[in-house]
Amino acid sequence: MTKPIIAPSILAADFANLQSEINMINKSAADWVHVDIMDGVFVPNISMGIPVTQAIKKHSTKPLDVHLMIVKPENYVEAFKQAGAEVISVHYEACAHLHRNIQQIKNLGIKAGVAINPHTPVSVLENIIADTDLVCLMSVNPGFGGQKFIEGTYNKVRQLKELIVNTGSKALIEIDGGVNQANAKALLNAGADVLVAGNFVFSAQDPKAVIQGLKNLA
Ligand code: DX5
Ligand code: ZN
Repeated sequence: MTKPIIAPSILAADFANLQSEINMINKSAADWVHVDIMDGVFVPNISMGIPVTQAIKKHSTKPLDVHLMIVKPENYVEAFKQAGAEVISVHYEACAHLHRNIQQIKNLGIKAGVAINPHTPVSVLENIIADTDLVCLMSVNPGFGGQKFIEGTYNKVRQLKELIVNTGSKALIEIDGGVNQANAKALLNAGADVLVAGNFVFSAQDPKAVIQGLKNLA
């Protein structure tokens, strides 16, 4: 098994000490920084936007993985690319013209991802998987950090892996929400490539050790 990509979610960091939190990630075994953008419309919460993403980029030595939980992402993807995003995921449920949204992101020269909510079946990705660099499987309902992992995610990982293999897609499988010691290994065994972890990392006594522990699972 290849080593997983570990993406700590900055949503769980201490926002008053962002620079030191980012320095911790820089010094850790993390691969990406997961940046959660919430608009209070698509999800019932507001997090951060373009200026904070720029500020994170200024200090981060790791690529920014931007998760847009917003309506009308087409109006903002270019600004997030300018702010430093190297991966941008949009939500299937927020995009009436998903193929166009994906092409728009790819035309910016960065990785394009599709995120799906817990209630959305993997099968809706059948006609977009070949164009997609990453699928973000939400393992909680998007909007908040620190929620309980939804067990049905394992089946979705296996179904998605099968779809990817059958179509020859190169898409990475990312798991987002409630990832911790109790589920990470099983998620990797089911076919996950990228683990996002917020509270599990930032509420730990030694966040770097937690990141290393996730990295060492495969
Ligand atoms: C939820 C966000 C997640 C969240 C993960 O809407 O998309 O990225 O920050 O945080 P934990 O790992 O605490 O569930
Ligand atoms: Zn996220």
